[in-house]
Amino acid sequence: MCACAGDSENTIRSLSASGPPIETRRSFLGALLGVGSVCVGALLSVPLIRFALFPLLRRTTELKSSPLGALEQVDGWRKAISERAVYVTKDTKGNLRVLTSVCPHLGCTVPWNKEKNQFICPCHGAAFTSDGARITGPSLRGMDALETSVENDQLLAQFQYFRQLVSDKEVIG
Ligand code: FES
Repeated sequence: MCACAGDSENTIRSLSASGPPIETRRSFLGALLGVGSVCVGALLSVPLIRFALFPLLRRTTELKSSPLGALEQVDGWRKAISERAVYVTKDTKGNLRVLTSVCPHLGCTVPWNKEKNQFICPCHGAAFTSDGARITGPSLRGMDALETSVENDQLLAQFQYFRQLVSDKEVIG
C-alpha cells in the first residue's frame, strides 16, 4: 500500500517535471476562469446600465415649434391632438398657455375631466386645474407648460420632455 502511494507521487512528479508545476496550471486556470467571469458579467450588465441611464441620456433629435392653429380660433382651452397631445389653455390673467399632456409624476397621459373641470391623471390620481396648477396627488409640480411663439397669426409650441418626480421643471430633451 505504501508502495502504491509512493508510485503515484512519483507519477505526479514525473508528469509535472515535463511541464509547468500543477499548482501553477491550477492557478492559471483559476485566473482564466475569473477573468472570463468578469468579462461575461460586464457584458450582461451593459443592457441594465443602459436601461438605468436612459432617462438621463435621452435627447430629442431636433427641437422645433409645431403649429397649433390660428390665434382667433383659441378660446378658453382647446385640446389639439397631433403626434403628442398638448392642451392650449389660458392662465388666470388670460394669457395663453400650452401644456404637455405628459404627467409630471410618472409620465402617463393626463386627460381633461369635464365633470370635475380638472385634469386628472388616470394612473395615480394627480389632479390639476384648467391652467395646469397642481391641486392634489403624487405629482410634485403642476403640468408643464411648453414654450410658445406666434408666427403669421399661428400659435406654435415647442414640445419638450421634462424630468419626472421632481418639484422643479427641468428639460431633459
Ligand atoms: S403618472 Fe400621473 S399621477 Fe402618477
